Formats: sequence, structure tokens, C-alpha cells
Amino acid sequence: METLNRRKIIIAIDGFSSCGKSTFAKSIAARLGYIFIDTGAMYRAVTLYALEHGAIRSGIVDEERVVALLPEITISFRFNPQRGASDIYVNGDLVEGKIRTIEVSNCVSPVSSIREVREKLVAMQQQMGRARGVVMDGRDIGTVVFPDAELKIYMTADAKVRAERRYIELTEKGDKVSFEEILDNVISRDKADMSRAISPLRKADDAIVLDNSAMSVEEQMEWFEHEFNRVQAALAE
Ligand code: DC
Repeated sequence: METLNRRKIIIAIDGFSSCGKSTFAKSIAARLGYIFIDTGAMYRAVTLYALEHGAIRSGIVDEERVVALLPEITISFRFNPQRGASDIYVNGDLVEGKIRTIEVSNCVSPVSSIREVREKLVAMQQQMGRARGVVMDGRDIGTVVFPDAELKIYMTADAKVRAERRYIELTEKGDKVSFEEILDNVISRDKADMSRAISPLRKADDAIVLDNSAMSVEEQMEWFEHEFNRVQAALAE
């Protein structure tokens, strides 16, 4: 990528679930030599821990029990060269493969709307980005975690296109899921993410929109290169 890679900046990527944020963010980070942080994985990791420790039963999240579990949850990332991204660990256990099941997806919205959960994870995210040179993806990165990020991108894509992508991803892994179930999950999470009281998903005023419904990864990279160079040129002035 022909970039004016002068200043290390924070690149905040927010948007709906399954619109390719992680793939996009991972490619950018690899090309720039930046650290990629998938904040959705952190909310998923807390959800998995809550499921495994009885704080979620039959899909019902017991908020008090989740909050009580928080002090015993330590999240860390370790770079996995095979994936070209960092794997997530909870209390030293690798959970990367366990956090993307439909069971976790179905419970992650209520867990991520708990104030104490957000406070803990946002503080960790701010700490991880303090040296800049990071690409962070999530829902509230440009609005809450790093309102001073130099480049903010708001990603979106048609809900059916997103459900199709997640369906392929899950069935390739051998998960038995139906397309309708995935589409329902995508639509209900969009609604929950945008309507929750704390840090709802919304476009930061200074974010630029990327609708990738009909764009290849290469086209998205070209688009990004242009925007990144624009920001670097402005910073150099
Ligand atoms: O990006 P994802 O689908 O893996 O995220 C999982 C859930 O976590 C999503 O439903 C919303 C929540 N989330 C959040 O509330 N804030 C973030 N910064 C990232 C994710």
C-alpha cells in the first residue's frame, strides 16, 4: 500500500455486526504495522465467562452475577502469526474459538449493555491504544473510547449481505445453523446495539461512512489508502 506512513495514529472503526469490520481492520493493521484490537471479542469473552459460570441461564442474563464475576476476569491478547491477528485469552485460557458461537452471539448484547462491563473494557481499550498505532474495531470507539482518534470510519452493509457472510463463516466451521436464525440475530443485534442506553452504536459526527455491501476487500483497501493519506497530509500541515 502506497501510504504516507508518517505519524502513528488511532484508527477507530465502528459499525454493525458482521459487516466485515474485523477483516478490514486486520488488513489495515497488517499493512501499516499497527496493532489490531477487536473489542467485540472482549465483550464476547466476558459473555462466554458469564455463560460458563452460571450468570446466564436459558438465555437470561443475571446482571448482578455478571458484575460480581468481573473482578475475576482478566483478558489478554497474544499475536497468532498463523491468523495474522491476536488471539484472545481469559485468565490465561485461549478462548478465540469459543467466543463466536451462536450461543455467545445471542447473549452478548445484554452483557455489553451492563455499565460496569463497559467501564472495565473501555478502560482496558484506552490503555491498549495509549501509544497510538492501533486499529480498533467496535461500536463506540470513535464516540467513547477514542473520541480524539485521527481517523474514524463508520462501516455499514445491507443486513442480508451481512447475514450471508456470517452464515458462510459458521457453516464452514461446521456449526448447524439456519440462514433465518442468523438473519434474525443480525437484525435484533442491530436494534439492541443502537437502542441501548449506554454507548449506543452511532456514527461519530467526524466519522466517514464506508458501505461495503458491494465492495471487494481490495476495493475497500483502495478506499482506505486514499483516506489514510488524506489524514496524514492534513496532520503534516
Ligand atoms: O463485533 P462483534 O459482533 O463481535 O461484537 C459483539 C457484541 O459486542 C455486539 O453485539 C455489540 C458488542 N460490542 C459493544 O457493545 N461495543 C464494542 N465496542 C464492541 C462490541
